[in-house]
Amino acid sequence: MDISFKIGQIKRGFNVFRQICINCHSLKLFKLMDLLKLGYTHKQAALLVKKYRIIDYFKLPYKSVIQAKRFNNGSLPPDLSLVTKYRSVQWIYDLLTGYGNTIIRNESNLYQNKGLESGWTAMRPPLAYKCVKDNFYAPHTIHQYSRDVIGFLNWVSEPWLNIRQRITIPILSSLFITGLILTNSLIKNNNKTIWNYIINNHHSDHETDNNKL
Ligand code: HEC
Repeated sequence: MDISFKIGQIKRGFNVFRQICINCHSLKLFKLMDLLKLGYTHKQAALLVKKYRIIDYFKLPYKSVIQAKRFNNGSLPPDLSLVTKYRSVQWIYDLLTGYGNTIIRNESNLYQNKGLESGWTAMRPPLAYKCVKDNFYAPHTIHQYSRDVIGFLNWVSEPWLNIRQRITIPILSSLFITGLILTNSLIKNNNKTIWNYIINNHHSDHETDNNKL
């Protein structure tokens, strides 16, 4: 199951969330402002979900819990901020892709889902071929949408993630510089560092001999 934490996947996943999942689920650990970490400008982020200000978290989109349940076969759509922590990525993937081609409902109006152990869920199949507008050149399949939205939810549950990405380059460059300094001091030539040796290479052997004395 390939969840990459690449910015492209997280952006596509947010696109799936804001068009589909937002209609039933809350996301209480997320604000549009967080999109600035993905490279969106303040203005772009503010326009992506019209009903929320940039500092608002995503609320349960119903007037009350009772109404939420009434619209969803008696089940409350849970907040998805930490869902990748208490369910595995594979579990969510199996759920989102588990409905099959024909939608089957039982006598309690639950939907058949082969991804679940119980085989049934109150969640109406949320994804369908081409249900998301503009998915940034990725295939418009349920499998792709699922991978992307899980990538996004995983990112929401990991506040350190973008910091990790940002410090990679400084860490690599300091390792590189430390490496240079070590090489520099380990490889010595007549008490001179290799860099002095290279720089002063045009000096005669005679001068080097003097240094030895
Ligand atoms: C039409 C409303 C609706 C939409 C749209 C919807 N969900 Fe759900 N979702 C539900 C309901 C209701 C449940 C609870 C199901 C149950 O308890 O049987 C649920 C449950 C879930 C669960 C299981 C959570 C758990 O811990 O059991 C996940 C994961 C989930 N939804 C993800 C998503 C994602 C991702 C999207 C967007 C692609 C989405 N849902 C879109 C209504 C919806």
